[in-house]
Amino acid sequence: MVVVSKIEDLKAIITSLKSNQKNIGLVPTMGALHKGHLSLIEKSVQENDFSITTIFVNPTQFDKKEDLENYPSTLENDLKLVEKTNCDLVFTPSAEEMYQENLHAEAFYFDGLENEMEGKHRKNHFDGVGTIVKKFFELTQPTKAYFGEKDFQQLQIIKKMVSKNQMPIEIIGCPIFREEDGLAMSSRNARLNKNQRNSAPFIYESLQKASELLKTSTIENVNQWMQQTYKEQTELRLEYFEIADEATLQTATKKESSKKYRAFIAVFAGTIRLIDNISL
Ligand code: PAJ
Repeated sequence: MVVVSKIEDLKAIITSLKSNQKNIGLVPTMGALHKGHLSLIEKSVQENDFSITTIFVNPTQFDKKEDLENYPSTLENDLKLVEKTNCDLVFTPSAEEMYQENLHAEAFYFDGLENEMEGKHRKNHFDGVGTIVKKFFELTQPTKAYFGEKDFQQLQIIKKMVSKNQMPIEIIGCPIFREEDGLAMSSRNARLNKNQRNSAPFIYESLQKASELLKTSTIENVNQWMQQTYKEQTELRLEYFEIADEATLQTATKKESSKKYRAFIAVFAGTIRLIDNISL
């Protein structure tokens, strides 16, 4: 496995791969890797001639300085984990390498997908994500790129970016990896204290209950039940719960049989923000 941190070195490798008609698989990450990330990398290794993992904590997608500063960094361990997957290359650039002196996000329009849920609560987040993912796509020219359903809105936005710009890249969505108690794996879980960690599985439990309830009840009732059930939680604070159309991510108020829905949730445990979702 090669570890590269300079764009110039990466470009030389990509040029050689392309001249040999190799398929490239790309897995962008921000590091602090867990089994969820590794499942994406393993899939890429299976499906492509050459796989690239990027590890880069992208400053332009953080709206809160504190969240960026506290984002866990475990590079040495990450590299060991990636090596075990037989991934071919890890790209670990610095912020200067990716942005030079222009640490700003480009403004994107993803047909309104960016204005829903996470977009409402994290200002300019998806401009930051779009900016860095576009840069990685241009640099690595992947055949396929892998994104987790854990960040379902991000996955839909990347699919939109690719189709709107006719990029010749196949976006592969991968299922959410969970801890045994149901908590969706996240780099942020490492920051939870004991009480918060013990309470956190309630997030997925509440999504499963909402999914059950929706079979016999209206969306409005499920929304009300969700608000109520979080009032009884001491360690967790509900930021939003929404049932939305999977394709447009627009909030659903009534069930229509022709559409596919997903429930989305964001919860604070102290200052740590956790998200999850479930297909309905
Ligand atoms: P990060 O949060 O590190 O996640 C990298 C990829 O791993 C994303 O596609 C995410 O959806 C996926 N992932 C995270 N937790 C997962 C889980 N429990 N199960 C399955 N997949 C999971 O998402 C980002 O980084 C950044 O926004 C990035 C795309 C790298 C751009 O900076």
